[in-house]
Amino acid sequence: MRLDKYLAEAAQCTRSESREAIRSGRVSVNGAVCKRPEQQVSEMDSIQLDGKSRPRQAFVYIMLNKPAGVVSASSDRRERTVVDLVRGAYPRRELFPAGRLDKTSTGFVLITDDGGFAHDILAPKRHVPKTYRVTLDTPLTDEMAEGFAAGVVLMDKVRLAPAEVTPLSEDKRTVRVVLHQGVYHQIKRMFGVYGAGVDALHREAIGGVALDEALAPGQWRELTAAEVAAIAGE
Ligand code: URA
Repeated sequence: MRLDKYLAEAAQCTRSESREAIRSGRVSVNGAVCKRPEQQVSEMDSIQLDGKSRPRQAFVYIMLNKPAGVVSASSDRRERTVVDLVRGAYPRRELFPAGRLDKTSTGFVLITDDGGFAHDILAPKRHVPKTYRVTLDTPLTDEMAEGFAAGVVLMDKVRLAPAEVTPLSEDKRTVRVVLHQGVYHQIKRMFGVYGAGVDALHREAIGGVALDEALAPGQWRELTAAEVAAIAGE
């Protein structure tokens, strides 16, 4: 790709800022100053801006601990979104959440600009499991657990894939649920079939990757390459 495009992505600046930096001699390719924005470069080349290496990051993958009250969208005219929480660090990237949590739900939301990755991990046939800690307004019953294992039939007659539910507390009001598909308001609707309400819902893990305990609500970090590969099932 062209050097100015590469640099704009690597340095998170605009194309014109990147061209300006190149023309003013601040950029070198494989050790030699290059003043031609149209110079073709690739990932194999060593690109430096002001003497510092600038490897291009093709895509970003972010683990956010979503706080309650924020919507899972890229932008919204009225509400604060999960992307609003990270956008300042990535002004040039077109970020979106790969999968949603309800406004009141908390926990792991994956934000990326990699459409192919998001499509793959959300595809129904991939079944990337998602793990939730759920607080119920009534104790978990055997009927619920058996129904989840068999595949809950929702009020609108849709039969869901089998899901796992295990109690986490003695009063059986805090439970862990593992889903293998993503249907709108799925957990609330599944418990609703049994007349149980959900008081709190927190996503603990996507695939084999747990939400980093060091992240307070609203905090985020980039996923490591190994975590991205684990979620993608590679
Ligand atoms: N199921 C729900 O009902 N809500 C969520 O936010 C996630 C799963």
